[in-house]
Amino acid sequence: MADMPYAFPRRISYNEGAVDELLNLSEMHDAKNFLILTDEVIKGTQAFIKLVNELEKKGIRVRVFFNIPKEPSIEIADEIVKFINNDIPDLIVAVGGGSVIDASKLARVKILRPDVKSEDISPFVSLHLENKKPLLVAVPTTPGTGSDASFAFVLKIKEDNKEVKYATGNYELVPYESILDIEFLKTLPTKQLIITAIDGLANDIEGLVAVNSNPLSDGLAIQSARMFFKHLPKALSDKDRDEALSNLHLASTISGIAFSNSGVGLTHAIAHPLGSIFNIPHGLAVAIVMPYVVEFNYEDKAAKEKYDMLKDILEKVDKFEERRDLKEHLLDLYSKVGQTTHLRDIGISEEAYRSRIDDIVELALKDADLPFNPRPASYEDIKNILNKIY
Ligand SMILES: [Fe+2]
Repeated sequence: MADMPYAFPRRISYNEGAVDELLNLSEMHDAKNFLILTDEVIKGTQAFIKLVNELEKKGIRVRVFFNIPKEPSIEIADEIVKFINNDIPDLIVAVGGGSVIDASKLARVKILRPDVKSEDISPFVSLHLENKKPLLVAVPTTPGTGSDASFAFVLKIKEDNKEVKYATGNYELVPYESILDIEFLKTLPTKQLIITAIDGLANDIEGLVAVNSNPLSDGLAIQSARMFFKHLPKALSDKDRDEALSNLHLASTISGIAFSNSGVGLTHAIAHPLGSIFNIPHGLAVAIVMPYVVEFNYEDKAAKEKYDMLKDILEKVDKFEERRDLKEHLLDLYSKVGQTTHLRDIGISEEAYRSRIDDIVELALKDADLPFNPRPASYEDIKNILNKIY
């Protein structure tokens, strides 16, 4: 059971339109000076251009920092601080996927607490920045990271001259509001839609059985997982696509709240080093690893009970066909959306992969998410899983 207070965004706006909700916030908080943080791709989308134009038309001062890379390192926060040049905004609006929102969380800390080192941020320190301006608002453009509702960030950091992923969190980093506007999902390439949604589903499935899972996170994780199972295949067809996208968007935010209050587990512990060593997007690494971790965790009695509870709900309430276990339901979903469970299918050479397996195991054993997995995983256990995913 979690021994920390539960954390949520203060507000979640759903089906409202980002412009209207941002204007609401401007009014509520007397905020007229916005800093929008995004990436180069999103900056060029119609939805983004419209957002900036409309805000400016209403008299909001908008500065846009669009240099957040796909896999930012912690130094990005210093660049953002330099960009604002002591002219502190009233509101930070992170428009993007997990990387943009994660970088924005750290940037806000750096703006408000220049004395805090990135490496010192953890769930166990007080940052004293709750409710302080600039507030952080997230406009997620992918349906899966849940970063818009979570207390965590994953950024790259240098360790012994190597770039590794640094995952940490703090309850004061939860964005003040998450604004869900599906205009931003509509331009997302199909492949990215699939892997980010599967990452969201992984947050639920890992969170459901994590050692800190609790009644609150369980309820959210189950509801969100059902929405992913049901709406991801629909989001790929033309019929009812908008409704499906809108459900995926909300499912992702719900999963963010769920895992933020439960932790994740072995899938993420393996996916972090796997992704950074082979340059595989986070959602894709998670998608490949998850079915094998579910299989591994089935040996844990409490995890099995929860997996089977979700399986029963899918079959008895949502009328999915009966399957042997939850892993089979995942594989069904994967086959509906064309998602592989093997690295050999995504262009990774076997030789290159085998030569790095031990490095991945070492890093997975040190990953901050591993202690939350319900079943302890040894060196050999992780290596077994890594052998299966090629
Ligand atoms: Fe994830």
